[in-house]
Amino acid sequence: MKNLIIANWKANPATLREAVDLARKTELAASGHRNVEVIVAPPFPFLAAVASGLKRAKLGSQNVFWEDAGPFTGEVSWQQLKSLKVGYVIVGHSERRIFLGETDEMVAKKVRALLAHGLKAVLCVGETERASHEMSETIARQLEAALKGVKKSLTKNLIIAYEPVWAISTAPGSRPDTPLLRQGYAGRAENAFQSNIYIRKILSRMFGRTAGENIKIIYGGSVNADNVAGFLTGGRMQGALVGGASLRPEEFTRIIASASHA
Ligand code: PGA
Repeated sequence: MKNLIIANWKANPATLREAVDLARKTELAASGHRNVEVIVAPPFPFLAAVASGLKRAKLGSQNVFWEDAGPFTGEVSWQQLKSLKVGYVIVGHSERRIFLGETDEMVAKKVRALLAHGLKAVLCVGETERASHEMSETIARQLEAALKGVKKSLTKNLIIAYEPVWAISTAPGSRPDTPLLRQGYAGRAENAFQSNIYIRKILSRMFGRTAGENIKIIYGGSVNADNVAGFLTGGRMQGALVGGASLRPEEFTRIIASASHA
């Protein structure tokens, strides 16, 4: 399976011109490593322009509204995203849950709309405090709420992004996690690895073993060129959701290169 590297630009950059330039550099990086799936998720206003500069890298978005169209001021629907050839949509990012009041119910509606219409949903889950009971309680609640009633056959378009809020680079007082490069005894004590196993267990319980094992789990939170291999190998993650470092083309190029060898 190819590693999946998603660039989450958040509300950056400030101008269309910078966005087009960043997309061009990201495309260049993606075209050098065909065994890595690279997704660029720019802000909504830049989607169309960024799309025209991508070939090897694919287009993603950072949010979606669950209805197809209608009186929903300020929202962008799944149908509109689909018409722009957006293939991947991030949902339930912690910044939306925290700053915009997005609830588990809203996240669930978004996931269902995406999966029902053939878009890939990148569902973000993750605890705010670093403590193992926090991790297990938060992840179980978020996964069960967002995925309740989802048909097993639709999970082929589901990706889980485990993003502990305490490790996101811009979160107040954040501390990046420090994954170990190799699996094994030390790996078992490690947060990304443990969370991965825990998420897999919940998915297998909800969708059965085969479907549960086929859902991609990726990591997010201060991922950079130096630590990405640790999350992919030691943490057994199948990709990364990259915020800050995706805005720095040289760093992002090194992340893709590292993911192509991990
Ligand atoms: P970060 O952001 O890489 O800057 O920590 C990741 C995310 O919030 O998706």
